Amino acid sequence: MWTATAPANIALIKYMGKGEGNIPRNVSLSYTLDKFYTEVSLTLTSDCDKYVGPVEPGPEATERFINHLKYIKKICGCEDFFIISSGNYRLLADGNTASFPHSAGIASSASSFAALTMCAFKAMSDLKGMPLPSLEQQSSVSRVGSGSSCRSFFSPWCLWMGEKTEKIDIRIDKLLTDLVVVDTHPKEVSSSRAHELVSSSLLMNGREKRAEIRLERLLTALNGNQWESAYQICWEEFWDMNALFETSVPNFGYMQPETMRILTEIRKFWKQNGDGPIVTMDAGPNVHLLWRTDQKNLRDLLLLPYL
Ligand code: PMV
Repeated sequence: MWTATAPANIALIKYMGKGEGNIPRNVSLSYTLDKFYTEVSLTLTSDCDKYVGPVEPGPEATERFINHLKYIKKICGCEDFFIISSGNYRLLADGNTASFPHSAGIASSASSFAALTMCAFKAMSDLKGMPLPSLEQQSSVSRVGSGSSCRSFFSPWCLWMGEKTEKIDIRIDKLLTDLVVVDTHPKEVSSSRAHELVSSSLLMNGREKRAEIRLERLLTALNGNQWESAYQICWEEFWDMNALFETSVPNFGYMQPETMRILTEIRKFWKQNGDGPIVTMDAGPNVHLLWRTDQKNLRDLLLLPYL
């Protein structure tokens, strides 16, 4: 049996809109979320590749997952069959773990595909006697299964541009992360569908340039300890992505009334304290917060009413 774990990641500069092989239309920058991870194991079997849970992502996503394993087997010339098992876990403050839901905008597809890719290459390397591919190579294979999974190979910061992913050194390299959960039900519009739909938005004009400019500004802010500026840039960026959703034809969106309430509270918190968290959102209603390590007291102040 082979096992691998991979973390989820949250993008501060977002990947939205893609071409063949999940090549992104624009650059993205992510921070790995070590508290959220997927563990995949593979066991040899005699008849066919099959998926046994415990996560139950539905028939379509299960097929996509199995197909990704088949894709890696083909690359490696492997004719064995495997039983795949995959679980999503959340590390709790007391050191215990709990499961976390799929398809709810908590980046479980990124961690699952990254873990499957790592696990499959471990198995191939043992069975075929081949050296393990580099992280860059594994990341690029993982990208074909799920775009954002390619960023889960580099921690804590990963830069993704075209076919290339790389670890990028940023002066602030340890953040405290929180997820304010509004809804864990699977989303109505999958992120794959969102990537397709956004090309109908007029706001897609200039999107690549906007992401590029924000990336430069964000790197300057994070490397220069300009935290408030980093917060402002990330706020603009997740709203930019959500504006693409809302101006697509047909339009769609993930924000819920509770999401808006939380965002408004955070804005008020920043005004009152002159400090606060970086806020970002994925294709889902839940809100991600990132804090500097010296903000523990401030974090308790904001989060106590919510958590
Ligand atoms: O990897 P996908 O196809 O599920 O795309 C996810 C894209 C977002 O999470 C919405 C943004 C991002 O950069 O992760």
